[in-house]
Amino acid sequence: MPNQPYRLLAVYYDQFFEAHRAWLEGARRKILGHILPRTSIACDLACGTGTTALVLARRGIKMSGVDASTSMCRIARKKARRAGVNVQVLHADMRNFRLPEPVDLVTCEFDALNHVPRKQDLDRVAQAVARALRPGGHFFFDVNTRRAFKKFWPSTWWGERPGVAVCMHGGYDRHRDKGWSDVELFIRKGKLWQRARERVEEVAWTGAEIRRSLRSAGFDKIRAWDEAPFVRGEWKLPAGCRTIYLARKAT
Ligand SMILES: C[S@@+](CC[C@H](N)C(=O)[O-])C[C@H]1O[C@@H](n2cnc3c(N)ncnc32)[C@H](O)[C@@H]1O
Repeated sequence: MPNQPYRLLAVYYDQFFEAHRAWLEGARRKILGHILPRTSIACDLACGTGTTALVLARRGIKMSGVDASTSMCRIARKKARRAGVNVQVLHADMRNFRLPEPVDLVTCEFDALNHVPRKQDLDRVAQAVARALRPGGHFFFDVNTRRAFKKFWPSTWWGERPGVAVCMHGGYDRHRDKGWSDVELFIRKGKLWQRARERVEEVAWTGAEIRRSLRSAGFDKIRAWDEAPFVRGEWKLPAGCRTIYLARKAT
């Protein structure tokens, strides 16, 4: 199966994946509440369709967004243009991206960090983020835990919107320590429906592995929160399935 995750899915992403916006907004308010007022320049890593970058840009923060999917970048640029908001969107990989100037904050939301191909890529991302930050700058991100992959990814999820339906089903591969999800899209083309498939894979790490990578990249103050208390609405998330981190680059 040819796989370019978030090529087609990017087009329908905002229609199906909106629920996390409110809870991540709440997490940002609580965890970054004292940091955002002192943030003048930031980057949203693996920015997807650019929603978080737009939210932060509207606060007056000079924003860039980085994503490895050309479709996501195109949509993010279009959204920013339509909103009349200035966001510089860079097509790059989170393992080796470079920004034109140092930033105060890097965000990487909705388990985007888990998307790297290999477990050891975490070190490269941590180093690239550290390079992008000014000393004392912060890295804010959330991850799926192994528990989430074992508990939720084997189930099937189905959603419908006008002219498109999505079915996701997957599992956890313990040999590779990865969750996988086959995303089947059914897209109406006139009177017919076209079927397409993309596979999303995500790496699992323990908290200790994440802290080790961050420390060796030069982050000195690392805090973590269970994401469950932030999750509201139709999603019911038990404790231990998602974790939010805030790490400070040493001064
Ligand atoms: C679950 S989406 C999250 C998007 C966005 N952060 C949000 O909150 O909706 C994961 C994103 O990570 C991007 N991505 C996956 N691997 C990447 C990589 N190696 N470097 C940069 N972006 C990547 C995908 O293209 C996709 O936009």
